[in-house]
Amino acid sequence: FSLKKYNTFGIEAKAKEFTAVHSVDELKTVLAKNQSKKKFILGGGSNMLLTQDIDALVIHIDLKGKKIIREDNDFVWVESQAGENWHEFVLYTINQNFGGLENMSLIPGNVGTTPVQNIGAYGTEIKDTFVSCDAVKIDNQETRTFTKEECNFGYRESIFKNDVKDQYIITSVVFKLTKRNHKINTSYGDITAELAKQGVTTPTLKDVSNAVIAIRQSKLPDPKELGNSGSFFKNPIISKSDFEKVQQKFPDIRFFEVSDSEVKVPAGWLIEQAGFKGKRFGDAGIHKNQALVLVNYGNATGREILNVSKDIQETIFTTFGIHIEAEVNVI
Ligand code: EPU
Repeated sequence: FSLKKYNTFGIEAKAKEFTAVHSVDELKTVLAKNQSKKKFILGGGSNMLLTQDIDALVIHIDLKGKKIIREDNDFVWVESQAGENWHEFVLYTINQNFGGLENMSLIPGNVGTTPVQNIGAYGTEIKDTFVSCDAVKIDNQETRTFTKEECNFGYRESIFKNDVKDQYIITSVVFKLTKRNHKINTSYGDITAELAKQGVTTPTLKDVSNAVIAIRQSKLPDPKELGNSGSFFKNPIISKSDFEKVQQKFPDIRFFEVSDSEVKVPAGWLIEQAGFKGKRFGDAGIHKNQALVLVNYGNATGREILNVSKDIQETIFTTFGIHIEAEVNVI
């Protein structure tokens, strides 16, 4: 079974067996029937690089549905099933004038995988509006609700990448959104500039969403046109003392303070400085407008893209002494 259509990198890889599930009950039945088999859980396929065929039963989480489960005068609690497309879910909330997700418009992937890496963009992360998620334990099919505290969110991090890695399948997520007094967040420089360009002075949720969409479309390749998984690397967080040493050699280096002792350095800047931006090696390459994004021009294999990523990591390390870590899951 070809997985080419099921991963946004558009890598040709085969699954030994494939099944899609459309309800939590169906998921539990499939898990119970296939206890002894190796299993591979597939959501939106937007954050993985397949470097080989999958010698397992691939279970595609295709649970649909979104609804309001509670509301008061100021807030609304909206639940989405895991298989809903993230951007369509964001638009559904904005169209009802619910605030909180607008800065994360147009991020590829499905709702169910957003908590795993605490997706974020333009000054917002899902942990800012996340309430809880339901998940099914793979080995005994029990349902568990994870509260926000239990999820232990960090920068592109959560419990699902650490303590309970590969143990649960997220089936639905609840967000708490504003009905009024929206906290419009235009702190990210690109948004301010885009709104100014459009002549918007008091932005609505829709205006912010449209600005984010315009920025993303100008910098980030559309996976339907050019295979990619968004940022391939995380932005490295390093100590201020290490940073100051690098800064002496590279005074133009960009950075964001994350605490009294640490700074985050944009990996895109490092990769661009190292000369990789826009380079192409066969069908694998580095995007011309955003060096943090690796792309598949058509028939690149996962190995080829992985090799390019290793080459980048090594060069960044020898040039700047900084280790950059992959953000996508390399399978
Ligand atoms: N930069 C360069 N060259 C590049 C790319 C970036 O010099 O080729 C510099 C920019 O000039 C800017 C800084 O790096 O000063 C930051 O760039 P940008 O605003 O594009 O954001 P990023 O740090 O590269 C992160 C997220 C993106 C998210 C944007 C906007 C990570 C790993 N990536 O990228 O998330 O959309 O911020 O908030 O944190 C994703 O995770 O897949 C993703 C696309």
